Amino acid sequence: MQHIISVKQLEDKKLLQELFDFATKLKKLSPVEYPKPLQDKIIATLFFEPSTRTRLSFETATQRLGGKIISTENASISSSNYKGETLEDTIRVINSYADGIVMRHPETGSAARAAAVSKIPIINAGDGGAGEHPTQGLLDVYTIYESKGTFDGLKVGMVGDLLNGRTMHSTLQLLSMYDVEFYFFSPKSLSLPKSYLQILKKQGRKFTELYGWDDALKHIDALYMTRVQKERFKKAKDYLAVKDDFILTKSLTRQLKKDAIILHPLPRINEIPPEIDADPRALYFEQARNGLFARMSLLNHLYS
Ligand code: NCD
Repeated sequence: MQHIISVKQLEDKKLLQELFDFATKLKKLSPVEYPKPLQDKIIATLFFEPSTRTRLSFETATQRLGGKIISTENASISSSNYKGETLEDTIRVINSYADGIVMRHPETGSAARAAAVSKIPIINAGDGGAGEHPTQGLLDVYTIYESKGTFDGLKVGMVGDLLNGRTMHSTLQLLSMYDVEFYFFSPKSLSLPKSYLQILKKQGRKFTELYGWDDALKHIDALYMTRVQKERFKKAKDYLAVKDDFILTKSLTRQLKKDAIILHPLPRINEIPPEIDADPRALYFEQARNGLFARMSLLNHLYS
């Protein structure tokens, strides 16, 4: 049994292809036809931070594959964490109830701490701002693959809070395995941490950092928008200073290629106005739907 703490565990082209193929197969089936690898298994969802898509899609995925869910409503106030219990003790206890734990926690490195004391798989559903969100990375690259059929030769634009956006940190690492060229659009104070630029350099990938919208938009095949992560700012004024810097207006979308795709891990705030939703290139709700199938595919891989 394997933990999924980082996308590093998914950095295997053959494994990714298998996960994509299985997700695509599941998308074509009706729920009565789904395999049941989680029959008699219980998955615990332990979320110390808010979540809509990640938690509900994991809970749906588990039940669609024949498993059952136990959950705390909001682990930071309704688990014993509130009374001062350590994360490690909480994980040890859940080990005697469940067969796997999907967890989200505000501290970077918390999923690795949990895995260190867990005999059942820990799946990281987001650890802090500087951390990772490997299953979001998986569903993001799956959505790009589903739409484009390949990664090689693509130009990917990543926009917004590149400092604190854990989803794009995971997505970027998976994409860096392929011949992808990156364009990073962000306020200077929210630029991509150097450690991720190092990964791209090591892999020999081309990248350009831009601090404003640029006519580079016309080259982009996949535009990955992110929200400015308000909760990661210490001072409100620092958030207010950058929150509106990268809004994808209708006129900006006219610069994008006809077959470009627009992605967003959601939730969006104001960076994609609702009027863009009708644009056939706007795939973010399909991307969220793919979260279910990508997570079913991963759970099937872990528990078959
Ligand atoms: C993201 C997260 O929690 O990191 N949400 C998600 O899982 N789709 C993105 C965000 O909160 O901005």
